[in-house]
Amino acid sequence: MSERTIALVTGANKGIGYEIAAGLGALGWSVGVGARDEGRRQTAVEKLRAAGVDAFGVPLDVTDDASVATAAALFEQRAGRLDVLVNNAGVIGGRPQEPTTVDPETVRTAVETNVIGVIRVTNAMLPLLRRSPSPRIVNMSSAVGSLTRQTGPAAELATGPLSAAYAPSKTFLNAVTIQYAKELRGTNILINAGCPGYTATDLNGFRGVRTPEQGAAIAIRLATLPDDGPTGGFFEDAGVVPW
Ligand SMILES: NC(=O)c1ccc[n+]([C@@H]2O[C@H](COP(=O)([O-])OP(=O)(O)OC[C@H]3O[C@@H](n4cnc5c(N)ncnc54)[C@H](OP(=O)(O)O)[C@@H]3O)[C@@H](O)[C@H]2O)c1
Repeated sequence: MSERTIALVTGANKGIGYEIAAGLGALGWSVGVGARDEGRRQTAVEKLRAAGVDAFGVPLDVTDDASVATAAALFEQRAGRLDVLVNNAGVIGGRPQEPTTVDPETVRTAVETNVIGVIRVTNAMLPLLRRSPSPRIVNMSSAVGSLTRQTGPAAELATGPLSAAYAPSKTFLNAVTIQYAKELRGTNILINAGCPGYTATDLNGFRGVRTPEQGAAIAIRLATLPDDGPTGGFFEDAGVVPW
């Protein structure tokens, strides 16, 4: 088996996911660029390789069982294991998202990718992660999924627009992260949720105030936790995010 740490970043063809792949690659890791579109995937892999990253393309649609199974088989063949999984792929789900007028399909889309997609990919990759000496799983969540911040004092109520799909999907993802941590306690697998902060990407029409590189920092930190690091937590650059 290769000595080089091997990671998979989902939704790595652009935005924060691309910068997570670049950041992990800069550590000398071998990085699988999970992306559903062949052209966008190849462009990202080429760009990463040009920057010196040991990147390889992983065809991956997190909403598709067969695609995820094929991605797991690719890691099985390439390394026989997976050290780090970053579940970064995410969607808004559609608009509008005001609760009283939201199309249920919008909710379904957000949950299908942001929650069920994470479960699907994680469970497919777990047999490979279990073969790693120090497996890490990072779920890219958002502070808009923090119920505490959503119900906090006026300043904190500004956390994101009204959202009956995207924000609750991240709350759901946080809850699922806790359940994984409970089941995996006693193993060497650390699983945590991270919030990148409001980052300028396609997801928000580039209105975010942080760069994708800044947004990637928390995932890189959680991907490189020491063996005695936390599990079942929710973190941003400044520290713990309240549930
Ligand atoms: N930007 C922010 O301010 C912010 C704040 C908090 C949390 N986050 C979270 O950070 C993560 C990355 O977001 P981003 O801002 O970088 O957004 P982005 O630029 O829109 O990138 C999203 C990535 O997810 C991929 N993706 C979507 N659905 C997928 C699917 N079914 N299968 C595989 N890949 C899929 C996209 O691929 P395509 O190119 O094929 O669409 C793209 O690579 C998301 O989980 C998001 O919720 C972002």
